[in-house]
Amino acid sequence: MAKILVTGGTGYIGSHTVVELQQSGYEVVIVDNLSNSSEKIVDQITKITGIKPRFHKFDLCDREALQKFWDEHTDIEGVIHFAAYKAVGESVQFPLKYYHNNLVSLTNLLEIMEQRSCKKLVFSSSCTVYGQPAELPVSENAPIQKANSPYGNTKQIAEEIIFDHAYVSSLKAIALRYFNPIGSHESALIGELPIGVPNNLVPFITQTAIGKRDSLKVWGDDYDTPDGTAIRDYIHVVDLAKAHVVAMERMDKTIADEKFEVFNLGTGRGNSVLDVILTFEQANGIKLNYQIAQRREGDVEKVWADTRKANEVLGWKTQLGLETALKSAWAWEKNLAEGIVD
Ligand code: UD1
Repeated sequence: MAKILVTGGTGYIGSHTVVELQQSGYEVVIVDNLSNSSEKIVDQITKITGIKPRFHKFDLCDREALQKFWDEHTDIEGVIHFAAYKAVGESVQFPLKYYHNNLVSLTNLLEIMEQRSCKKLVFSSSCTVYGQPAELPVSENAPIQKANSPYGNTKQIAEEIIFDHAYVSSLKAIALRYFNPIGSHESALIGELPIGVPNNLVPFITQTAIGKRDSLKVWGDDYDTPDGTAIRDYIHVVDLAKAHVVAMERMDKTIADEKFEVFNLGTGRGNSVLDVILTFEQANGIKLNYQIAQRREGDVEKVWADTRKANEVLGWKTQLGLETALKSAWAWEKNLAEGIVD
């Protein structure tokens, strides 16, 4: 059984990926500093899979801790690196916090992987690297645009660091550019755990539905889109998690000669903010209290993925739709309200 290190494995996408890895026969070790997650997620994962993943709490910026950790796990075959800060607004306010955390942790990780001959890395990137693309759907060949936040910039720089390092070392790496991950595992035992007021649309919707927030604001209805609200490619987090397993397997195969590859992870379909609201209401039989507000600064108008490379080269595609995702998000919010991870 191959051992995989999942950094940020108690986080939203990380925890779902741990489940998929375990269910595909991998042994998983989690490293997380719990800066934006809870150790209780380890137990939740165990409830789903029946296998308790090893968990180590430390910060990847701490090189000594990382060395000590690797001494205990000399047989790690691959790394899936999620651990990073991800709040766009906060990154504008505290850029150094973002550059330091997201990039130092990465270089530490690459360094130790090289020292210990660990040659496979899957990196968690974002469609934010495309900005507002000139052509839609956006493919992996679209030009990278100047990031509009330090957070987005850390994703761009991280891809470049990995590319440069892979070029001169034995590392093989795959960067996965996520579109908008939503929803939760069908068991509703794990899901997104936003701390404070959520920035993202779906947690804001579910918190409004449960009564934690009075009303939802739709940021702008004057975009050049059919209903005037912005369009995104919302992907079920379980589909997204499965892509990481496929990416890890791909690096074992000789066909994947490329040192560094990039794949878009999206559904290929765009949905507006109002589509999401309406689908949530219909799928769950709930009326949402929402108002139209001014555009949010930094938002792009519309973006959705060209999924051909992921479908044909990676051999992965999404299976779950928007309605399923929004039902699962609601089931998770209700479990949270009942104190499932308190
Ligand atoms: C943002 C980041 C992305 C990051 C992701 C995860 C940008 C351009 N994108 O995605 O890089 O990986 O967050 O944190 O910064 N909306 C509302 N009302 C709300 C919340 C959102 O109308 O209360 C709208 C937004 O204006 C947007 C859509 O819903 O049109 C999705 O927003 P959100 O979930 O925040 O994701 P992105 O902004 O696409």
